[in-house]
Amino acid sequence: MQIRIADLFCGIGGIAEAIHLRSQSASKDDGKIVSELSRWHPKVVTAIDIDRSVASLYQHHHGISPRCSTIESLQRVAEASSEQLDMWWMSPPCQPYTIRGSQRGNHDSRSHALARILTLIPLEKPRMIGLENVPAFEGSQHHQQLKQTLHDADYQIQEYTLCPTELGIPMRRKRFYLLAKQGGKRLADISINQQHRKLKEFIDEACWEDKTLHVPLEDVRLYEKAMNIIDAQDSDAITACFTSAYRKSPIRSGSYLHCSTRRAVRRFSPNEIARLMGFRNDFFSKMNMSQRSQYRLIGNSLAVPVVYDLLSVLLAD
Ligand SMILES: C[S@@+](CC[C@H](N)C(=O)[O-])C[C@H]1O[C@@H](n2cnc3c(N)ncnc32)[C@H](O)[C@@H]1O
Repeated sequence: MQIRIADLFCGIGGIAEAIHLRSQSASKDDGKIVSELSRWHPKVVTAIDIDRSVASLYQHHHGISPRCSTIESLQRVAEASSEQLDMWWMSPPCQPYTIRGSQRGNHDSRSHALARILTLIPLEKPRMIGLENVPAFEGSQHHQQLKQTLHDADYQIQEYTLCPTELGIPMRRKRFYLLAKQGGKRLADISINQQHRKLKEFIDEACWEDKTLHVPLEDVRLYEKAMNIIDAQDSDAITACFTSAYRKSPIRSGSYLHCSTRRAVRRFSPNEIARLMGFRNDFFSKMNMSQRSQYRLIGNSLAVPVVYDLLSVLLAD
């Protein structure tokens, strides 16, 4: 049976990527989680984002062209699709809840889209809902309103705070997730995978030849104490969380690699970050998109393996 998904605030489509990657491994049937996904055939049938620049990349990788509009302008989510929708997946903007975004919550205009969704949930009652946001979303007024709305509309709810490191991936990206479902089996916990993958697996040695990635030594001297610089030979290294500000801001936006033999410090390439996030190899290659946009989009996106596990929980019946 097909589960038709609306990817709201779609960006580059972390949820579509989770479906794509695991549908590839489904034939291998490497466990219970895979079989849940292969049985249900989840598919993104509509995607919406205000950002026009995601359209061609989304179309290229996921086969549909996102509708370019604000969520606030929708009378119904259903109007964005000719097919009936079973699931809404959403990653609303996090700035209203972050310190960098001044934590203005409901008073920040970037939260109006989520407020619109809160009014549409009782009207449309999609069978399943998934939401991702920064940990600071938990406890916000919107978080309370969302839970109340879901409770009043008879959803069962489960909340998670998860980091890819818990699934063995050497990158920090702690995020809050909420799953909601009408009926069905109780939403389960996520099992932690202790098998640790090495950072080396995600590094492309050829990137050292790309001088656009190198950080001028003058900048390293200035910001060294505040930058998160990892020794490229450190096999136990775990990167910091890469944000959309990576490349614009040298601090608190992600990690850098240091190679003592080359005496160089460089940024991770957008493709390396995408790989750490669980996207297919060379995700940005062949796309006509500036490096700045690539960093912004991947920094805003989802940790695909985490989303995959959550999707499996939501689909289990
Ligand atoms: C946190 S990112 C979502 C990332 C996405 N889930 C992914 O996997 O790449 C938030 C997205 O919401 C979009 N957005 C922000 N405000 C919006 C609005 N009012 N209506 C529609 N999209 C909006 C942004 O352009 C951005 O792509």
